[in-house]
Amino acid sequence: MHQQIPHESASLHVTGEALYVDDLPSSPSLLIGRVVYSPHAHARIISFDLTKAMKAPGVAAVLCAKDIPGHNQMGPVVKDEPCLASGEVTFVGQAVFLIAAKTDAQCRAAEKLIEVTYKPLHPILTIDDAIAANCLLGPARTMQRGDADAALRSAVHVIEGELRTGAAEHWYLESQASLSVPGEGAEMTLYCGSQHPSETQTLVAEVLGVKKKDVVVEVRRIGGAFGGKETQGNHVACWSALLARATGCPVKVRLFRDDDMIMTGKRHRFLTCYKAGFDNEGMLQAVRIELNSDAGAATDLSFAIMERAMFHCDNAYFVPHMHVLARVWKTNLPSNTAFRGFGGPQGMATIEAIIDRIARYLHKDASDIRFKNFYGLDANNTTHYGQVVENNRLQRIFDQLMQSSEYITRRKAAQEYNTANEFSKKGLALTPVKFGISFTTTFLNQAGALVNIYNDGTVLVNHGGTEMGQGLHTKIQQIAAAELGISVDRVRVNATNTSKIPNTSATAASSGTDMNGAAVTNAIETLKGRIAECVAAIFNERDPSLHTLKDDIRCERDVIFDGKHPERTIGFAEAMPQIVLRRVSLSSTGYFRTPGIGWNRDTGVGTPFRYYAFGMAVSEVLVDTLTGATTLLRTDILHDAGDSINPAIDVGQIEGGYVQGVGWCTTEEIKWDSAGNLLTHSPDTYKIPTSTDIPADFRVTVLENATNPNAIHGSKTVAEPPFMLGLSAWLAIKDAVSAVANYEIEPEFSLPATNEVILLSAENLKRKMKEKESKQVTP
Ligand code: MTE
Ligand code: HPA
Ligand code: MOS
Repeated sequence: MHQQIPHESASLHVTGEALYVDDLPSSPSLLIGRVVYSPHAHARIISFDLTKAMKAPGVAAVLCAKDIPGHNQMGPVVKDEPCLASGEVTFVGQAVFLIAAKTDAQCRAAEKLIEVTYKPLHPILTIDDAIAANCLLGPARTMQRGDADAALRSAVHVIEGELRTGAAEHWYLESQASLSVPGEGAEMTLYCGSQHPSETQTLVAEVLGVKKKDVVVEVRRIGGAFGGKETQGNHVACWSALLARATGCPVKVRLFRDDDMIMTGKRHRFLTCYKAGFDNEGMLQAVRIELNSDAGAATDLSFAIMERAMFHCDNAYFVPHMHVLARVWKTNLPSNTAFRGFGGPQGMATIEAIIDRIARYLHKDASDIRFKNFYGLDANNTTHYGQVVENNRLQRIFDQLMQSSEYITRRKAAQEYNTANEFSKKGLALTPVKFGISFTTTFLNQAGALVNIYNDGTVLVNHGGTEMGQGLHTKIQQIAAAELGISVDRVRVNATNTSKIPNTSATAASSGTDMNGAAVTNAIETLKGRIAECVAAIFNERDPSLHTLKDDIRCERDVIFDGKHPERTIGFAEAMPQIVLRRVSLSSTGYFRTPGIGWNRDTGVGTPFRYYAFGMAVSEVLVDTLTGATTLLRTDILHDAGDSINPAIDVGQIEGGYVQGVGWCTTEEIKWDSAGNLLTHSPDTYKIPTSTDIPADFRVTVLENATNPNAIHGSKTVAEPPFMLGLSAWLAIKDAVSAVANYEIEPEFSLPATNEVILLSAENLKRKMKEKESKQVTP
């Protein structure tokens, strides 16, 4: 526990031995599945003919919507997402037909023989278009405290504006993949890359028209997910299962990278309007925020994502009067979905943009305005939804990071640099994150486990969480070993399997270790009770002169002993077969439900989160104002990981999360053409950060002495929160750009700050400066 052991699959990852779906040993009857998708953003399907394609060489099946034996539906919450389009297509990339053949080349050849006639209809492709056409996906929602309108009317200063934040592609290294293997009768076993195997099982059962007892979903590991496989890993699973059922053969569907990017949903684009009132010191008095998101063509998780955005548009700041209005809009694009931060980044970007503007407006340092507005320890510590911010570490992290990053000295140095350099500007920004941990859909906060101890003294742990690179299985292995008092190499974490743990939640909301770790601990508690009883009996039979009590049995370093008579020992591996001989079960289930949470969705008030994660980053950038090119010079992060279960893994998550956030904030721009075709569908047009884009000087530290009373072994999840620290790079760039106009004029600035945005923003500032100067000289 609390050790830096390597990721349980580290050596398998680097040698290439780790098995992903596409690596699984194939059977001679294996078929390859291909998805034929809509080339139109919105169109009516007038007619189609599959007969030629069906007769093509090697083809075993060509399916359309009417071939689905069960329900043609794969929406996870709202049943508004057809598995295969029928009658109408609503986005480019929507699945219409499925082909199974011996080889991929045969599938492609058959695809060319499918004849379809579409009648194109008018597509809605932006939030603005959706607003104009009033295409709401569901009712608007509000969350509020106090009277924001009245407080804005009496505020000393008021600013208002609009912020656009972009979509983003998950860019998991393993594209969506699923292998379905039919068994006897209705049986179907799936090997896939889903963050939510139980939901995959549900949807596969529904499309096949069978019961869940007949469907088994197994996930060994996922080659990256980042939310992109929380619901949309279900799609390939349903398609491969349909083809497997139709052909009676195992069928593997794996999306080619460009197809994956075209077909799957992204982070929700947001268009946010805000109005903020504040006093001369920069203290927030009232904020009014209107959030608009682009859901795409179906609901998916859009309302939960919007809800999290509403919960996070305060970020780390106490806003006395707050009003949040949220609307989710429907467009003719792939249904947008979960992505690290789950709406949190979009909400936080708004308040961070507000604070940044206030600082420039008042000619004060933004870090100063941030510090003043942080939630307090005893007062001003309740959020706009009524949850008390407990164990608040904002002040502590701020003080420590301001020191360690030498913020004040470096800010001065940057300003001096900017005075001396006309075309090259340095910028600096500190941003905090306060992120609520728990699924806001309260019932999802539950987890299950099944722990088997074998009579050779080794342990196989099953739990409902999935491993996607985040190190969940490693942490679970550490927790199980620590709870049993044995070495980690006695413990293996099994592939996640719905036949072992039923009715689980997605591995999401950063709660994988908190919840599954607690469920595993619960199972081990039961086992330890049985072991203690048997071992006490063994000790007492061996030497009846002493009496060992069950409650005195301990296990440390693979040795079980009597805590009162430590000379009474038995090796863990030696004890297990004796327990089996005594006919005692060494297998137990475990269960956990997160305590102390609950809120009212209608009033928007309550305690949705078990606890908050905290962190802060200082980013420094260098911007070439003639080209918009940006370099990240240095980043200092101080993050609260509680008593970290595995500091190496946590630092990796913090680094990775930050860099992924920087990508969203800077280079990752998604573009569609005017017909709804994705233009950025491969790595040559869509720029994720590479190893050369990480900060040249990158200093990541976890907060010391920071035990968390609300999660297992005092730990605190780090999974999603560091993503939002990427906002410090965005605001550092804005700071550098505003130096073009001597920090006097507010730059126009959207997110991501691509080279283009930076260049236009800088050019605009230059123009405005000239106008200002010419006005000053005219009498
Ligand atoms: N880290 C890696 N390497 N790969 C991933 O796909 N997903 C992120 C985060 N870190 C992800 C990752 C997201 S979106 C979530 S919700 C959490 O991991 C999920 O895992 P956890 O709750 O077990 O930490
Ligand atoms: N986070 C991630 N996934 C979710 C959530 C959440 O808060 N709610 C429902 N699915
Ligand atoms: Mo993470 S977006 O909750 O999968």
